[in-house]
Amino acid sequence: MANTILIGAQWGDEGKGKIIDVLTTEADVIVRSQGGNNAGHTIVHGGKTYILHLIPSGILRRGKVCVIGNGVVVDPIALVGEIEQLRRAGVKIAKNLLVSDCAHLVLPYHRALDEQRELRKGRAKIGTTKRGIGPAYADKAARTGLRISDLMQPRLFSKKLQAKNRENNAVLRALGARPIDYEEVNKNYLAAGVKLRPFVTNTVVYLHNAIQRGKQILFEGAQGTFLDIDFGTYPYVTSSNTTAGGASTGTGVSPNRIDRVVGVMKAYTTRVGEGPLPTEDRHLSHLLHSLGREFGATTGRARRCGWFDSVAARYARMVNGIDELAITNLDGLDTVDPIRICVGYRLNGKRLNVPPSDAVQFDNCEPIYEELRGWKQSTSSAKKLSQLPKAARDYLKRLGELAGAKISIVSVGPTRAQTILL
Ligand code: GDP
Ligand code: IMO
Ligand code: MG
Repeated sequence: MANTILIGAQWGDEGKGKIIDVLTTEADVIVRSQGGNNAGHTIVHGGKTYILHLIPSGILRRGKVCVIGNGVVVDPIALVGEIEQLRRAGVKIAKNLLVSDCAHLVLPYHRALDEQRELRKGRAKIGTTKRGIGPAYADKAARTGLRISDLMQPRLFSKKLQAKNRENNAVLRALGARPIDYEEVNKNYLAAGVKLRPFVTNTVVYLHNAIQRGKQILFEGAQGTFLDIDFGTYPYVTSSNTTAGGASTGTGVSPNRIDRVVGVMKAYTTRVGEGPLPTEDRHLSHLLHSLGREFGATTGRARRCGWFDSVAARYARMVNGIDELAITNLDGLDTVDPIRICVGYRLNGKRLNVPPSDAVQFDNCEPIYEELRGWKQSTSSAKKLSQLPKAARDYLKRLGELAGAKISIVSVGPTRAQTILL
């Protein structure tokens, strides 16, 4: 396998965890480059379901090294919790996990601010995961953040934390929220720091050396293209570059060391949180929820569901330079007939083939649909393309044509075995 970026090409939750798990067979190192524990990547293996938030999904495979890159925002308490939970489930975590010393920390005041800002927005809220992601990245950009390297220097950390906590408490008090107790946070974070110390290193150098030694790197995207801070449906986005470019800045691996971009898309569309979703369909949402599908892996919220959006897909291909597509959850459409695909948008009487940059305009776009026949039978045990019903093959063919990229993986169920490699 070449050095590969795996990116969410819709609104997140495309099934990246499952596809990472499949691609990990050929990778040596799996690296997260952005986001934090707002992510929830599900892997179903050996009868168990694992949901990973900060640790790359490769951790479940022996002999792989997982790296949390500089572009990730790390809540150390959450990370320690995740490590301990995985260890309890029998997953070995030792020298196979590395954490960048440059990664920024998420602190309790970030979470409190995230919550307060959402509350104050009322109906205009973003619908964040309330993990403090936005305020943590804001501190990073404002050059007022604390990093893992600070946490590794207890006296310095305590001093910086005290000043930052005081400053943020003034803001929280002004918003009518409870201030954060410095002593408590200091104690808990230093304790987490002691547990994380064995994993902390300059991951840029590690990755560089790994590439020099011919190791294959898999970049595990979090969130999705339309949640990107630049290219997403701003302001209904997350606070990092979720698109392919983020893999480079978030790890220190230069673009010319990356060979391939795989985009993951569901065979339909989902979104959790507020913001535009032109192809949203209440009936499809209802159907998928009634099958027990499409509930958020991080917050448990019901995801909004809609038809496959090829306007969005083409834009995602453009922004990320997608070479290959992995289509997941094909089986989610097993009972649907007819199946709609959005082939264009209509806005103020004009046809658009590219999503508008403005969220209000995006929200006002009316999808233009093409209808295809459903297959009305189970696809979840298909092992080869030829074992899929003709209508399902036609549907995939059309998705590939409209998205303008080659489909190389089709997923028909949550487990490793339910994967068709083309
Ligand atoms: P991620 O954030 O992109 O990793 O995706 P999530 O894990 O949040 O959500 C994807 C959900 O779909 C999880 O529950 C997966 O187990 C599940 N999943 C992934 N691929 C398939 C598939 O092809 N079929 C079915 N039925 N479930 C899938
Ligand atoms: P994975 O990696 C789906 C959404 C939130 C909200 C917006 C901003 O599992 O695909 P944030 O907490 O980041 O400030 O929230 O982004 N969001 C996700 N939606 N999947 C995710 O991650 C998400 N991470 C954030 O619901 O709309
Ligand atoms: Mg998810």
